[in-house]
Amino acid sequence: MNIDVLTLFPEVFDTYLQTSVIKRAQDSDAARVRLVNFRDYSMDRHHTVDDYPFGGGAGMVLKPEPLFRAVEALNEDEIPIERIILLSPQGRPFTQNVAKELSSVKRMVLICGHYEGFDERIREHLVTDEVSIGDYVLTGGELAALVVMDAVIRLIPGVLGNPDSAGSDSFSNGLLEHPQYTRPRKYLDWVVPEVLLSGNHQEIAKWRHEQSLLRTLQRRPELLNDRQLSDSDLEWLKHQANKEPTV
Ligand code: ADE
Repeated sequence: MNIDVLTLFPEVFDTYLQTSVIKRAQDSDAARVRLVNFRDYSMDRHHTVDDYPFGGGAGMVLKPEPLFRAVEALNEDEIPIERIILLSPQGRPFTQNVAKELSSVKRMVLICGHYEGFDERIREHLVTDEVSIGDYVLTGGELAALVVMDAVIRLIPGVLGNPDSAGSDSFSNGLLEHPQYTRPRKYLDWVVPEVLLSGNHQEIAKWRHEQSLLRTLQRRPELLNDRQLSDSDLEWLKHQANKEPTV
């Protein structure tokens, strides 16, 4: 996967991209991330990238020319650009499903804004997608681009050591992940649930599935609306709902 990031602050990406799974993905060529400062594509000797909004108002607006020219330069590479994604609080909410969808893209461009906003022609005529990482406003799209890259790159086949790891993540099946335990079996007064020590894989899988359902019901009940539950899941949840107060 090839990712080109258009940003005015390429230096903020360095440490994160050189760490852990994301670094390994790049070292193994599963992902290649290129950082491009679109100020280099500005049209004047002052390297201006923003200007006052027509009609007045607070803040500055990113001009169209530097971003259009930067993408034009990227288009000269032979690998076709499949997506041009603008990071913005007005975008489509970024979820695990969107991460999955993007994990099969061969080449994408992420555009990070700064300042008050973008000239609308960037939205209308340059980008293919607009993505938000949550209902809050960041000072720029850089953190959002890192979030998107992290969530997407770890889903590229071969990037996580164990191919099952991504499959059991929270959200990967529309539910929150079940509780996990490791050694010691007893810490202070707290013991690991017996079933996990039983060696009975069927029972363990059943317990984990039920815990996933329960946790989702307690913490994010709205996720259950988007999911087709089996009769036995529904029955089990109803039973639990009568037993346990939900938060
Ligand atoms: N840029 C500023 N805020 C953002 C958000 N919430 N998501 C994506 N990009 C942003």
